[in-house]
Amino acid sequence: MTHLNDTSSVLNLLKSRKSASAKAMAGEGPTSDQLAEILTCAVRVPDHGKLAPWRFILWEGEARATFGDAMKARWRELHPEHGEATLDFVRGLFLRAPAVLGVISTAADHPKIPVWEQQMSAGAVCMNILLAATALGIGCQWNTDWVAYDAGIASVMGLQPHEKVAGIMYFGTSTVELEDRPRPDAMSLVTRWQAS
Ligand SMILES: Cc1cc2nc3c(=O)[nH]c(=O)nc-3n(C[C@H](O)[C@H](O)[C@H](O)COP(=O)(O)O)c2cc1C
Repeated sequence: MTHLNDTSSVLNLLKSRKSASAKAMAGEGPTSDQLAEILTCAVRVPDHGKLAPWRFILWEGEARATFGDAMKARWRELHPEHGEATLDFVRGLFLRAPAVLGVISTAADHPKIPVWEQQMSAGAVCMNILLAATALGIGCQWNTDWVAYDAGIASVMGLQPHEKVAGIMYFGTSTVELEDRPRPDAMSLVTRWQAS
């Protein structure tokens, strides 16, 4: 078994990590080397059956605006009563960050591996992305928002009918100091099982 010689820094990362907010991001996204590093960490997750039941969609540069046009058009279809200000906000969703990464669960029926387990593996991918980005000093937030659940947007993303969005990961430099939030008392969540 690998023995970590920098255990305390790993534990410190796990205990102190906090998300940046997509609402307050600027600057550059990850370089292509950093993205490759983040994704190498991302796919190093438990994966029952070695199915690799996930894939990634990257939005950078102009693609964020083009996708924004599609989100705006879809929002207008869903909410014809909404005015231009709301529509422009929706159009700008991905423009808030220099890079946006969709983590797509490709979980499908399998004779041995439940879909639930494949989907949880996609959640682990998202978590590793958050951790790796934080370790590299890149702000990151794991979002979903309505775009993750809308059939019209799924088709614009090019998703297959069985595919689901596990996360929309925003990357950038936070323009504000990251604030922590109260965390649950972990040990209070534990019950010791005993026979009744
Ligand atoms: C699956 C999932 C989806 C989320 N979607 C959103 C979202 O759409 N919008 C949002 O503001 N936060 C969303 N969050 C919450 C943020 O990722 C995160 O909880 C928050 O930024 C603070 O987390 P932290 O303080 O532990 O870093 C989501 C979290 C998860 C796990």
